[in-house]
Amino acid sequence: MKGLRERWLRPRHFIFAAIGSAIGLGNVWRFPYLTYEYGGAAFLIAWMLGLIVLGVPWLMLEFGMGRRFQSGAPGVFAGIGRRWEWVGWWPVFASFLITTYYVVIMAWCLHYVIGGATLAWGVGEAGAKATGDYFFGEVLRLSPGPGVLGAPVWSIVGFLALTWIVVYLIMYRGAPVIGRVSQYVMLIAWAFLIIIFVRGITLVGAVDGLNFYLAPDFGVLLGGGVWFAALSQIAFTLSLGMAGMFAYGSFVARRGDIANSATITSFANCGTSFFAGFAVFSTAGFLMHAMGVGIEEVALKGLGLAFVAYPSMVSMLPVGGGFFGAIFFLMFWILALSSAYFLAYGGIAIPLMHKFGWSRVKTSIIVCAVCFLVGILYTTEGGLHWLKIVDRTAAFYILLLSGVLSAIVVGWVYGADKLRGHINETSDFKVGGWFDWIIKIVLPVGLLFVVIYGGFAKDLVEPYGGYPLWAASMIWVLLIVTLGLSFLLQRHKGATIVGGKGRRG
Ligand code: PHE
Repeated sequence: MKGLRERWLRPRHFIFAAIGSAIGLGNVWRFPYLTYEYGGAAFLIAWMLGLIVLGVPWLMLEFGMGRRFQSGAPGVFAGIGRRWEWVGWWPVFASFLITTYYVVIMAWCLHYVIGGATLAWGVGEAGAKATGDYFFGEVLRLSPGPGVLGAPVWSIVGFLALTWIVVYLIMYRGAPVIGRVSQYVMLIAWAFLIIIFVRGITLVGAVDGLNFYLAPDFGVLLGGGVWFAALSQIAFTLSLGMAGMFAYGSFVARRGDIANSATITSFANCGTSFFAGFAVFSTAGFLMHAMGVGIEEVALKGLGLAFVAYPSMVSMLPVGGGFFGAIFFLMFWILALSSAYFLAYGGIAIPLMHKFGWSRVKTSIIVCAVCFLVGILYTTEGGLHWLKIVDRTAAFYILLLSGVLSAIVVGWVYGADKLRGHINETSDFKVGGWFDWIIKIVLPVGLLFVVIYGGFAKDLVEPYGGYPLWAASMIWVLLIVTLGLSFLLQRHKGATIVGGKGRRG
């Protein structure tokens, strides 16, 4: 289709954009905590193995198929055969659902950059409690449960709108601008991370925290939990199963490299996680020292890390707290920004443009506006409860199941060897025959293990997150709706599907 072909202007733009999509909140607030919880250095072994055995080949699959069919996920699967198109819509829904709340988390960060970083919450345990009260009570105004929605918090709606405008401005001209912007975004984010790191390791008590980060407990490798945690983190952190990497691969010219780019992206992303762990755990050490408590008392997980532990540290620093607070939240916002336009553009807009023949500007406006409107749900007082439920649905179930499905269809129907041949035509290093077996067997079985062990086996027994049954059941409702809509979209003929059989870019 004329006009739809778009290209990165330089190979390095592709790498930066892909790294930017991969590095996000997950690297800073999910990885360090998982490492600590699942046996420190032992977790790193499972995680590295997951990275090499599943992460890199899966990323090669998405990049490679995107480049082969010059299309986003639905176009790729329609290219394999019309009856497989639904498999490609599945990750588009993951992207859509994730974007709606991911950008809300960015809005909270903006609130702290502009209004919160200079607030002083006090010192000691009282200070930490005040920080938590501020976040849950004043920023979120959190309601007791998903049944009590309440009104939106309007200041957050404002920051949400602002963030969406920035995302729109970066995405509406497509890959050339996304690629160029991503270089600066990543360099700034890394520079900020280095500042946070240096501040962290020079804090009093830092070493005590770091001792917990990597303390090895190799016994955990014998249980299933660590493998589950490592594999699901690899999928999430590389932004796989979300359609966007197919689109990013489709912007690569026929002669561009795939294998090397996938490897660089994976290692840059995971290196950043490892590095971020030092910043996080040195901060934890400082808090343990300042409050005179053990590591268990310091909120290190997810929201707690970013919005409670870090602000506590900021408020307990004798000097420069406001500055480091602002840098920290700005870093978070920037890290998440390159993931947000990746989802909105590569994950949602490209599939819609290709399917319906809409223009880039029109599609971008629709995607940003709809995601913004849906996002208002999470700015209500009950919003965080819904955020958690939708997160479980999209960033766990849909993402992993879409990985299982695409590995099976690409591996067995299209042919893993054909994909490998295509990748090897242009890559800097040749991928060996092991790749076929990974795509055909190891990847789908590994992901299925994660979904069953860490998902169905728990959520079918008791409602997710301790929520009332009706609210937790939304997970299953959303999964069924996703499946139904994917088939409906497949039945719709569409205007311009690119990637039909035999079309080569
Ligand atoms: N990979 C990103 C991270 O680690 C998360 C992300 C998830 C980005 C989904 C895009 C889509 O934070």
